[in-house]
Amino acid sequence: MAQSRSKNKAALFLFATAGVVLSLYLLSGFQSGLLNYLRSHMTDRASPESIIKVIKLILLAALAYLFVRALRVLLFDLIFRLRRGYEAPTLPRNIFSIAAFTTFFLLIFSVLYPQVNLGALLTTSAIFGVILGLALQDTLGNFFAGISLHADRPFQVGDVVSIGQQRLTGVVEGITWRAIKIRTFQNHLVLLSNSSVAKEAIEVCPRTNLNARLVYFNSLYTDSPAKAIHVVREAVREADNVSQKITPIVRIRNLGESGLEYEVKYWLDDYARYNDTDALVRQRVWYAFRRAGLTFNFPTRTVKIDRKSRTVGPEFDHGALIERLSAVDIFAPLSVEETSALAKTSVRHVFAHDEMVIRAGDAGSSMFVVHSGRVQVQVNENGRSRPVAVLSEGDFFGEMALFTGEPRTANVVALEETEVLEIRHEAMKELFNTNPDLVESLSHIIAERRLGLEDRPDGPQPEDESAGIIASIRRFFRL
Ligand code: CMP
Repeated sequence: MAQSRSKNKAALFLFATAGVVLSLYLLSGFQSGLLNYLRSHMTDRASPESIIKVIKLILLAALAYLFVRALRVLLFDLIFRLRRGYEAPTLPRNIFSIAAFTTFFLLIFSVLYPQVNLGALLTTSAIFGVILGLALQDTLGNFFAGISLHADRPFQVGDVVSIGQQRLTGVVEGITWRAIKIRTFQNHLVLLSNSSVAKEAIEVCPRTNLNARLVYFNSLYTDSPAKAIHVVREAVREADNVSQKITPIVRIRNLGESGLEYEVKYWLDDYARYNDTDALVRQRVWYAFRRAGLTFNFPTRTVKIDRKSRTVGPEFDHGALIERLSAVDIFAPLSVEETSALAKTSVRHVFAHDEMVIRAGDAGSSMFVVHSGRVQVQVNENGRSRPVAVLSEGDFFGEMALFTGEPRTANVVALEETEVLEIRHEAMKELFNTNPDLVESLSHIIAERRLGLEDRPDGPQPEDESAGIIASIRRFFRL
């Protein structure tokens, strides 16, 4: 499309140049004939010579215009683009065209009209120019500020900028001769004149740059900094819009009055969405803290009150857990004492919407029961994830790696805020010792899920699979 448009332009240019050159040629060839014709037909006072001169001036000016256009294409579209690798800004191109054309026009004019004193004309126009300049002071100020902005190219359309002491922040939508258009994060459009922007300090976060943000949080002095740094880094690096190119940095920025103060520095793929991403990062920090049993610091006087009023946390209501576990079909055969023992050893974790509970390929030595919320099981296929199941309250997952020792077969992702109960290898071994039948019922479920992952209706039947699984569970748990 663009190619055919430039072809049309080139054809039009050649056609116009040929037309002008031909007209000039004909004019000089038939000049005397034309003069005679005009003399015999003209009755008013205008002299035929001056008419011919005016036509010549127009034709030569048209030729100069075409020449300037050709020069502009050569300088800006070819040489500039090849050297710099991007398109030349409109402002310098236009200034070049105006300056070059004016020079050519004055040259042509002085050759055709040598008797006209251009110096006097320019002096008069200089005075006129001063008057005009004063009248257009602001407009010209904007114009020249626009020139310097175009020449420096400190920012471009799409960049996030923060301007002046008021720190007016938004995304640049356009830069014109007069003003800069910025869309703020409240979706307002702000127009700032070029001259006012040129006087201010501007912070630029280019679209093509990996820009960083800092988010702050804190923890109790009793919590391990190494643990806090690790869990927060892992939780933040997976959040949407956090760049995968640089791992987030978590570090202690202060030993505060009532706890350790940290900052997490992360880089964004799309800086224009930093408000949402900051919020998501804070949310991820909260969930990571909950799972790891870490606590945010708070004024010492409110410590006890806050802890008692917490509704979601690692400490749990034992009765509710027994109820949840006894409703899970594979644990149905367990006695009340066994379920109670299992509840005591299980650990409760909370995950935010979209957080990954299990990652395919990881090693795993525990399984999970969904206590509240929902999770989705996804398999990775050719770099894309295919959902295979949604599990909700009372369902369990993660048993395949736990019982066979093989890597995790799928990703399991929270579809909403989800609490899970983690049951570890040792607890299951206890159960298998007292309930050997559990191995068999689990092997059926694992076999069915494995076949579901393969997505092959003509493949082996669950019964064929489960025999092998029973053997591998027995081997792995040394039963
Ligand atoms: P594991 O392989 O340890 O980790 C991923 C878990 O996803 C896996 O255990 C199962 O619990 C679960 N899973 C895999 N495939 C399915 C399926 N087809 N239906 C339900 N859950 C599954």
